[in-house]
Amino acid sequence: MRVLVLHGPNLNLLGTRETDVYGSSSLAEVNLRIEAEATALGLEVEIHQSNHEGVLVELVHGAQGKFDAIVINPGAYTHYSYTLADALAAVGLPAVEVHLSNIYAREKFRHLSVVAPVVHGQISGLGSFGYLLALRAVRELAGR
Ligand code: DQA
Repeated sequence: MRVLVLHGPNLNLLGTRETDVYGSSSLAEVNLRIEAEATALGLEVEIHQSNHEGVLVELVHGAQGKFDAIVINPGAYTHYSYTLADALAAVGLPAVEVHLSNIYAREKFRHLSVVAPVVHGQISGLGSFGYLLALRAVRELAGR
């Protein structure tokens, strides 16, 4: 089973960005954890990060026929990108949304996810462990 993992804008700055909110691990360290868990679960993962909405949309489009599921942290696009939500809905692959921080315990604008209605589920507030849980979730959703 192949899983596409997408990190949205500003997540390339993990480890230095608001470490009280997002933790001190770099994106490379988070990705190593994701890869180790994927191997343990017998999954193949491909991981991308982009600061550009269109790039993320095209990665989602490209997942069709190539991947069995998507794990995505859309960053701030979570809160307003109908474009990204439409792309996820269009490909219709099992998808899980991940947030390192608890978006419901933060500023009001973060309480709305426009992506949530088109994914199977959301994991918010568990730090990078959330990605590992999301891998388990998509494996379960795909019935593997
Ligand atoms: C985030 C939460 C978003 O509100 C924020 O814009 C991010 C990261 C998280 O992982 O907690 O960039 O998705």
